[in-house]
Amino acid sequence: MVDVRDAAKALAGAGRVVVFTGAGMSAESGVPTFRDALTGLWERFDAQALATPQAFEDDPDLVWGWYEWRRSLALRVAPNPGHEAVAAIEAHAPHTVVITQNVDDLHEQAGSTAPIHLHGSLFTPRCATCSRPAEPSREAAPEEGRRLAPPRCEHCGGPIRPGVVWFGEALPAEPLEAAVQAATECDVLLTIGTSGLVYPAADIPVVAAKFGATVIQVNPQPTPLDAVAAFNLTGTAATVLPALVSAAWPLS
Ligand code: OAD
Repeated sequence: MVDVRDAAKALAGAGRVVVFTGAGMSAESGVPTFRDALTGLWERFDAQALATPQAFEDDPDLVWGWYEWRRSLALRVAPNPGHEAVAAIEAHAPHTVVITQNVDDLHEQAGSTAPIHLHGSLFTPRCATCSRPAEPSREAAPEEGRRLAPPRCEHCGGPIRPGVVWFGEALPAEPLEAAVQAATECDVLLTIGTSGLVYPAADIPVVAAKFGATVIQVNPQPTPLDAVAAFNLTGTAATVLPALVSAAWPLS
């Protein structure tokens, strides 16, 4: 088991904490990461090739079907002990900001109060033409096949698209500004389950380190963020994070 004691000391002593999460955070809940090979219905597809505005323009039924599959998956799964440990950090360290690249809303389900969503959410669809928000569905999509025609906008008749950020699109300005500000102000930044390959999100831990924060990384694999991490806790979110929280606040 990885030794978390020194990292826990830094975490417990921090005034301001940022928790920055990627797909690995939800892996143990059963949500595949972006760089995992897909299986079953989607095994011939590349997740990243489906996550572009061009893919939606070329084949809206395929892309909507893919996101409806992911939304249905997110409805079936539950937060894991890693998400719960993140909510516990917020409870112990009130100046904690959670910044996530994930679109599954599992942080909210675990009790995180207001995570900043850098890449949007599967539960905030909007019109691809007029950008007005559409009614989100909380029902699972039918499972019979891959393709599903997107619903039409009740205002302009345009196709509804998922409320996520696709490759080649700008990140939403307000969440990005809030994330960068939190990164510049924190004492400790925990980066969990992200490959650190997708920009500008991957800059968040780098900015924190530049502004003097201690960076703690939780990931079973090496990443480019190893270079800025003062502590590299090699392991999975659901095993390392509960141990880190217990070591940081042993009496709770
Ligand atoms: P990736 O799929 O790129 O990386 C997942 C990371 O999680 C890898 O570094 C894995 O080693 C690590 N990992 C796997 N299992 C883990 C576990 N149980 N515990 C902890 N870590 C684990 O996911 P992201 O870095 O989130 O963007 O990808 C960033 C963005 O690229 C995504 O938000 C998405 C994607 O394409 C858009 O859709 C715009």
